Amino acid sequence: MSDSNTESRGSWNTKFGFILAAAGSAVGLGNIWGFPTQVADNGGAAFILIYLLCCLIVGFPLMIAEFTIGRNTQKNPVGAFKKLSNNNIYAALIGFWGVLCGLMILSFYLVISGWTLSFALEEIVSYLGFNELANTLADLGNGYKNAIFTVLFGLLTIVIITGGVSKGIERATKTLMPILLGILLILIIYIFTLEGSGEGLRMYVTPDFSTITPDLLLSALGQAFFSLSLGMGALITYGSYLKKNQNVVESAAYVTVADVGIAFVAGLLVIPAMFVAQASGIQIFNPETGALFSSVTLVFDVLPGLFGNIGGFLGTLVGFTFFILLGLAALTSSISLLEVPVSYVIDEHNIKRKKAAWIVGGIVSVIAVIVSFNLNLIDVFVFIFNEIGLPLGGLMICIFLAYFWKTENAVLEMKNGFENIEETSFPKIWTIFVKFICPVLIFIVLFTTLYNYIF
Ligand code: PHE
Repeated sequence: MSDSNTESRGSWNTKFGFILAAAGSAVGLGNIWGFPTQVADNGGAAFILIYLLCCLIVGFPLMIAEFTIGRNTQKNPVGAFKKLSNNNIYAALIGFWGVLCGLMILSFYLVISGWTLSFALEEIVSYLGFNELANTLADLGNGYKNAIFTVLFGLLTIVIITGGVSKGIERATKTLMPILLGILLILIIYIFTLEGSGEGLRMYVTPDFSTITPDLLLSALGQAFFSLSLGMGALITYGSYLKKNQNVVESAAYVTVADVGIAFVAGLLVIPAMFVAQASGIQIFNPETGALFSSVTLVFDVLPGLFGNIGGFLGTLVGFTFFILLGLAALTSSISLLEVPVSYVIDEHNIKRKKAAWIVGGIVSVIAVIVSFNLNLIDVFVFIFNEIGLPLGGLMICIFLAYFWKTENAVLEMKNGFENIEETSFPKIWTIFVKFICPVLIFIVLFTTLYNYIF
């Protein structure tokens, strides 16, 4: 690869910038919506413990693997597997699968991200008394409205990507992540001043181990893949812009801790907020199943109800800020989802970044508009590309690295930036994980998911 091409691919400006960008990819709807929702769905703190184990045992070793493959090859996922396998077509398919998952996950991710914008706007519009417009903005089933906000969010994502690695992605995440953290903390402090939050906190931190079932294990592992942005090469792509002096193991540790930490903290906001909503008269348990409301109902029904009950300017402010928080988290993730297919087009088809971003972003936006009008596609896409797709991708990455590229070569790559790696026990432990523990666990989970689906 010539220097000029390396230069045109771009690279991270600072070590911290890379960690923040990768953390921005990881921290998204999966943390602030998905994680609390799963905790509510799966009976509280027992889920948190299992989730932590999944992140530690499967997520962290795999994240190191993705960063290492990316940094070694300096390529998009397709190019990376081609390079490491001397152009083996089956190996390249692992990368293609990642590119496809990126496109399809982004196509529903944009729709949900669009909702965060329309609900933020709805808070203001309804405060100003434009009730009809407010109702339209809050109507999840309105395809035209969905399409407009979906495309708007797509445009935001494309514009950041056209800026390149350091001037686009790195700069945007450096600005957005501190704002996101600030908003999250302020909202938590506020929620804890309200009646009912204590009960929510208690439910959040008290584990009920009777809820641990095989299904819960599946949910926890799926959630870990999605939340840590693993299995589709997003982190291979981000790793490919790394300079040789960065310690990838340490960086992966920071990103994992940031992602898990922010998911936990987001739960401290959302679960207590549900019980505050209950104290204000809103139903938070599904009368038919007795379970806590989750997912779409929780975020786009229970919580707006709470903001309405807080009322006045304060209610508007809290509601607006909450949806902006969700939107910011979504944006730093959607750029990483788009960057995967864009980097593929740039590297493999020699197309300039701006053009590549508009072409690929345009294609994704068209699919996303179709999803805007057919929301039942979200569940289908989640199942195929997230619940099956990401673990499958992760499994293939693990097997490729362990048995074809070989862990010794990966460790050699990690040595850049972690000079005394061979004097530590890290290579041995990590090798056991990527060779045996991770693939076996992922395989069991995938097999069970498919088995449950078919029978
Ligand atoms: N990690 C992001 C989230 O939690 C979603 C994502 C998945 C981003 C896969 C990139 C790749 O919302």
